[in-house]
Amino acid sequence: METPAKKRVTLYDKTFEVMILYEELDRHIQKVAERINRDYADCDTPPIMLGVLNGSFMFMADLLKKLDFGCEVQFIKMSSYDGASSTGKVCELIGLNGSIKGRHVVVVEDIVDTGGSIEHMMKLLAAEGVASAAVATMFFKPDSYSRDYEIKYPVMNIGNEFIVGYGLDYDQLGRNLKDIYVIVDE
Ligand code: IMP
Ligand code: MG
Repeated sequence: METPAKKRVTLYDKTFEVMILYEELDRHIQKVAERINRDYADCDTPPIMLGVLNGSFMFMADLLKKLDFGCEVQFIKMSSYDGASSTGKVCELIGLNGSIKGRHVVVVEDIVDTGGSIEHMMKLLAAEGVASAAVATMFFKPDSYSRDYEIKYPVMNIGNEFIVGYGLDYDQLGRNLKDIYVIVDE
């Protein structure tokens, strides 16, 4: 018997087919939320849930609804530009709402791939003098990851395939899709 065709979307020149339904994403988020609830239940100061824009907005919204401790919510962007000096690329955080010195921070990411972005982020947070920084990411590509920072709260591990939806984009399209879609080789 033929299996029914999977739902497809076209974004610019690429075709994607559905890979993970929202209900499954949500079940996995629940498990990670329970771990975060246990780990941050007795903090001396309210932790800061720090979403990295743009991709983390959907994951952040669903995760926050499952957290049961008092926390602050902030969103940041990492901007990188070529520095004038010979040191090359310079990164900075934009959007921080005051000092985060001495605070416990959970960085909320859409996806960690090679780990380059999260490494920059963790260095910048250390420079801000945070008390602790942990990473919660909706998707993690362990086969591609090549850095030393611990990814403490990966919600779902995937292979090296390119995915869109649930905040993730292909050339800024696809972020609004509720389910996760994977690129189709044609
Ligand atoms: P990094 O390699 O861990 O630094 O990831 C860099 C960025 O690549 C992520 O923040 C995403 O914006 C993007 N990225 C990596 N894999 C995917 C994917 O499968 N779909 C959409 N964006 C991705
Ligand atoms: Mg990102």
